[in-house]
Amino acid sequence: MESNTLKKIIPIEQLWINLDNFENRLYEISSSKDSYLNDISQYLIKAGGKRFRPICTLLAGELGNGSNEKIIDAAVAVELIHLGSLYHDDVIDEAETRRSVQSANVKWNATLSILAGDYLLARSSELAAETLGLESVKLLASTYAELVEGQTKEVQYQYDTDHNTDDYMKVIEGKTASLIRTSAKLGAMAAECDEKTTKAISKWAWHSGFIFQITDDILDLSSDTETLGKEAGKDILEGTYTLPVLIALSKDKEKIKKILKEVKNSEISLSAVIEEFNNEKIINESKKYLDYHFKEGKQSLNDIGDSKIKEILDNITNYLINRSN
Ligand code: IPE
Ligand code: IPE
Ligand code: MG
Ligand code: MG
Repeated sequence: MESNTLKKIIPIEQLWINLDNFENRLYEISSSKDSYLNDISQYLIKAGGKRFRPICTLLAGELGNGSNEKIIDAAVAVELIHLGSLYHDDVIDEAETRRSVQSANVKWNATLSILAGDYLLARSSELAAETLGLESVKLLASTYAELVEGQTKEVQYQYDTDHNTDDYMKVIEGKTASLIRTSAKLGAMAAECDEKTTKAISKWAWHSGFIFQITDDILDLSSDTETLGKEAGKDILEGTYTLPVLIALSKDKEKIKKILKEVKNSEISLSAVIEEFNNEKIINESKKYLDYHFKEGKQSLNDIGDSKIKEILDNITNYLINRSN
């Protein structure tokens, strides 16, 4: 998700001004008087990232009349939750690369990554309590609980060839869709949008979250490390069987089970069998799930009155879908 492309898709000058101010506020809120902790917890902020969740917040913010300061703080609160979850996720996944740099668990260690993640999560709650109000604090807390439920389910299903695509959907609704939905909802709340608009943009973001994760999982199998900024093919190697793998399993269970076992035991290399998961038939089937969320997301836009934002949201969905092509 290249930022120049997003700039073209979102031609709203104020939003990009807000995003610049968001960056400053993000540094301010995540800073620590302890310089050692500060270096670790701001390390991934400096490394970049797409800022997709804050952009969702700022877009939702355009639909109401709230103050820009409050909308920006909502964006900071969600990015901090996202960041905290990335520090933790890289420990869980034993990742080596994140945002095109060495992951924090490798540069420092797992303990410090967990602490840095905790620190960012704590600062998010503090900010929300200070400037967004109780309802937002509650929403962020319950969203993080959902995210943890999703991450836990994923660990529970590690190397499990008996779970199915429904189970996978539960994993990704928790670990990804819930925070993307909340990113939009929090922006709408900060901007004092009416209930109908808030619901509509939240629903759009919920379905976009599924599209986001499904395309991410397809890319993991079809792209390369340099393009991704994190290791390609990592999901299968770490025993996370995503949608294409679960579809392949549903077609020929015994054959795919054997392949996955051989990959797990390093008897064959993943590249030798990647075609089993990255072929036209499997990708086309994966796209049926994308289509469902595409249609649902599009439908929710009917309840958004602002035709300019509606068109932008529509273009973002198209962009997310095309990411995996
Ligand atoms: C990574 O999220 C975690 C997923 C849910 C796939 P992003 O792909 O949004 O990561 P950044 O913020 O751009 O680094
Ligand atoms: C990350 O999921 C999701 C969260 C951080 C909650 P993944 O493990 O699938 O994402 P990447 O590939 O590390 O970005
Ligand atoms: Mg990961
Ligand atoms: Mg993970």
